[in-house]
Amino acid sequence: MSSSNESIKKVLTVAIALCLVCSVVVSSAAVLLRDAQQANKARDMKRNILAAAGMLESGVPVEEQFRNVETRAINLDTGEFTDAVDPATYDQRKAANNPAMSEDLSGEEDTADIKRQEKYGLVYLVYEGDNLQRLILPVRGYGLWSTLYGFIALESDLNTVAGLGFYEHGETPGLGGEVDNPRWKAKWEGKKVYDGGQIGDVELSVIKGEVDPQAPGAKHKVDGLSGATLTSKGVDNLIQFWMGENGYAPFLSNLKSGEA
Ligand SMILES: Cc1cc2nc3c(=O)[nH]c(=O)nc-3n(C[C@H](O)[C@H](O)[C@H](O)COP(=O)(O)O)c2cc1C
Repeated sequence: MSSSNESIKKVLTVAIALCLVCSVVVSSAAVLLRDAQQANKARDMKRNILAAAGMLESGVPVEEQFRNVETRAINLDTGEFTDAVDPATYDQRKAANNPAMSEDLSGEEDTADIKRQEKYGLVYLVYEGDNLQRLILPVRGYGLWSTLYGFIALESDLNTVAGLGFYEHGETPGLGGEVDNPRWKAKWEGKKVYDGGQIGDVELSVIKGEVDPQAPGAKHKVDGLSGATLTSKGVDNLIQFWMGENGYAPFLSNLKSGEA
């Protein structure tokens, strides 16, 4: 090296100083932006919840739209509201991976292929005045390549589907990824989960092919996604699981009878 500015010592000093400055900038940004990131994440989840229920209005701040939504925690076993966790901070997905907060599901029980189930779930109750207008419930289950995470929304009769939407999955765009297609999602609206509204066997299902509207039980059936039978089956499985005895059925029975 000819010039003194190119000596190994100077090059190393500049490189180390640059690394130090950059690491301070990156870590300060991470620390300073943490609150904003968490607020964005929470807002995004609220948007997903409202969208699943078909209640998301463009141009109106999400926080304002969420004002009518009450978030409560329930004990999934007993189907009762609980104060055991704080709905404002409880992370249901994290809890499902925490052995102290979740239970192993046996192969027979685990129809949604989720392996473990959290003891407590969050539910979102939408009120119009004092009257329950919608109930939004988190659901998840394995498709072909990935676990699909989403929400199912029910009308106040706790039986009619108001909407279904997934906010995270890794299914193939154009195939299983068609779960996000608004035309397919619209097919869920108005479908009935239980026969005659009697909470028990889950009648709602995704079939292979198209539903004949005249066929008996059509009100419980949703078209499968063409070319994506395995993802469709995954959605069917997760509906069976979460709307059944090991999912929300105990809570829905309690809510209906006013004993939640
Ligand atoms: C690259 C690739 C990606 C695929 N992705 C999906 C998928 O996301 N979901 C799915 O159900 N099927 C997917 N399939 C197709 C399945 O392997 C299977 O053929 C299909 O689910 C059968 O559906 P059908 O009976 O409606 O044709 C994929 C196939 C290939 C080759």
